[in-house]
This record gives sequence, C-alpha cells and structure tokens, in this order.
Amino acid sequence: MNYTAEAEARGYAQAASSLEKDDPHRASELYAECAKLYTQIANDLETDNPEYYKQRAEDYQDLSKRVLPRSINEGNAKSIKENLVMAQIPDISFADIGGLEDVKREIRKAIIYPFSHKHIYDYYGKKAGQGILMYGPPGCGKTMMAKAAAHESGAAFINVRTSTIMSRYVGESEQHIKEVFEAAREHEKAIIFFDEIDSIASRRSESEDYIKRVVNELLTQLDGVDTSNDNFLVIAATNTPWLIDPAFRRPGRFSKLLLIPEPDQPAREAILSNNFKNKPFAGIHAADIAAMTAGYSGADLTALCEDALDLPLHEALSTGNTRPANMGDIMQALDGRQSSTRSWYIEAERELDKYGEKDTFTF
Ligand SMILES: Nc1ncnc2c1ncn2[C@@H]1O[C@H](COP(=O)(O)OP(=O)(O)O)[C@@H](O)[C@H]1O
Ligand SMILES: [Mg+2]
Repeated sequence: MNYTAEAEARGYAQAASSLEKDDPHRASELYAECAKLYTQIANDLETDNPEYYKQRAEDYQDLSKRVLPRSINEGNAKSIKENLVMAQIPDISFADIGGLEDVKREIRKAIIYPFSHKHIYDYYGKKAGQGILMYGPPGCGKTMMAKAAAHESGAAFINVRTSTIMSRYVGESEQHIKEVFEAAREHEKAIIFFDEIDSIASRRSESEDYIKRVVNELLTQLDGVDTSNDNFLVIAATNTPWLIDPAFRRPGRFSKLLLIPEPDQPAREAILSNNFKNKPFAGIHAADIAAMTAGYSGADLTALCEDALDLPLHEALSTGNTRPANMGDIMQALDGRQSSTRSWYIEAERELDKYGEKDTFTF
C-alpha cells in the first residue's frame, strides 16, 4: 500500500537533485517533501521495515539542509552576495504592466527620478529616495512593479529572499541583512527589494527573540542609509501590511506607502492578451472579458485562461479531435472562478481595524 507514497518520494528526490544547481531553494523544499513522505511511510503501521524508511527520511532531511545556500552552511560569505544579486537588470518594463498608470507615475517620482535627476534633488537639499512599502491583494503585480522599477531606472536588482536571510544560527540572519546593504553599496545604482517582507519585519511585540533581533538590525540598516551618498533605494512588498512593525514607517525608513490595487480594465485586457498569446484560443476579445472580470487579480485571470483551455483539452482526450478554446469555454470557466481579491479586502478591513491602522493603509 506504500508503493505510491514511495514512488512519489522518489519522484521528489529526482526532481530535487536535478534542481540542486539552478534553484537550491526549491531543491531543498523538494528534499524536505521527500523526507516527509518517508516519515509517513515509516509511521504507517503496515510498513514492513520502518527503520529503513526512518533512515531514508533522515538522510533526505539532511540533504535538504545541505543543498541550501552553501554559503550559509559553510561560512562562504562571498556567495551569499552572489545569491542575492540577480546577475542582470530585470527585463520586465512598465510597458509589460497593463494599466496602473497612477502607480507607475508614483514609482517614477519615488524611484526613477531620484536616480535620473539626482543633481536636482541635491541642489534643493532634498534627500532623494525614501523607502517604499507596496501593499495590496496578492497576484496584482507588486513583485512585477519592483522589477520594472529597477529596469526603468537601470538599477541592479537585489531581490532579497527571506529564505536566504533567515538562518538557524544565532547572529547569522542579522549578518545577512548587513551583507545585503553592503552588496547594494557595491553597485553604481541598485534597488534592494524585500519581497513578502511581513515574514521578516513582523511586529516585535508579537515575535520571538530571533525575529526581534532581525527587525532591529533591519531598522538600523535602514537608518544608516545616507541617501545623498548611497546610490540605492529600498522597496518592500507585502499582502499583509497589518503584520509589519509600525517602526518601519518612521521617516527615512519605509515612509512611502503605495497601494497596488487589482488590475483596472486596461490592465486586465493586457494581462488577458498576454495569456492568449501563443495558445489555441479563437474568436476571443480580451476587452469583452476584461469588462466581465472586475475585481479579478492578475493571477486569477491567468488561472481563468488555463481553466478555459482545459475544456477543449478534455474533450480532445475522449474524441481525439482538437479545437481551439472559444468564448463559450471562457464563459464556462468564469462560472467556476471568482475574484480572489474580494476576500483580501474583507480580511484587510478587519485586521487593520483590529490594529488601529485603517487610516494608514487606505484603499
Ligand atoms: N498589471 C499587470 N499587468 C500584467 N500582468 C500582471 C499585472 N498584474 C499581475 N499580473 C500577472 O500576475 C502575476 C502575479 O503578479 P505578481 O507581481 O507576482 O503579484 P504580487 O507580487 O502582487 O502577488 C504576474 O506574474 C503577471 O503575470
Ligand atoms: Mg509577489
């Protein structure tokens, strides 16, 4: 009865081993999944040789730690920087982001001009570039916006992954945060991006000690940014702004709050058109579907298109005849997929009320 679980575990291990080099984080997750399955098998009363499976679980658990940033485990400090800094400037530009013109304008003012018109800011004695915190429902383009901002300003993009920063060893997470800022100073122009910052910048009053230390270090580093000398800006993004320690909003830290709302009509049209490209769709008008999908996130729209493709695909599996997806398929897919942003607004309303921050994060 454990054959399927065992086959699945082997599948995870295989996939993990092929990813070790290119995506050690994913490989580590997959090895951990594999270990979990072996533990399940070992704990199953019907398993013949539980010791064997227990050992396998331990082996893969070890492996899942070992493939992770070797820099962390082996104290090879140089490559953590390599891990953090994307080799190139991201290739997403504002043109790839549909609509959201107000947000783009704000980003130009806050991120691009401070780089491109530095002398003007200097002349008027303005500190260029305060930190920016983007917030809003998931799947609506926060990560995309940050990358596009780096692209538009020609800045190196330092994409900070929480999993790279957080370490089990005392003091190491703080060290990693320092290294992120050091890495930024080595570039002529850079943007440090803390994606999903809620997982490292949570409220100290509700956190464990090691989180408190990380939060304090991040605050210290932000305070040390001298925007007249430093050529980098800091951007953060979160779906749960109410979880962030309010100290991060003081002047000079993330003092600019920017809502990234769900895509408007032109944005939805652009996202949909992107999804139709190179796929078998026929007789479909993105504008019509955009008009019917107010409140849908970018991720919702992508899922909708995939659902619509599944319909003729399943037909083809039984009849052997392929046909493109049409408007009828889209309509049917629409019945099964609601907007996911509505529930975010309900939760946000409740949580912001609870923390007394309704006037801070508006929508
Ligand atoms: N305005 C937009 N224009 C084009 N694509 C978008 C837009 N908003 C979201 N998307 C699509 O949705 C996906 C999720 O966006 P992402 O930036 O990861 O969202 P978030 O970081 O807010 O959760 C993107 O990869 C993109 O395909
Ligand atoms: Mg994101």
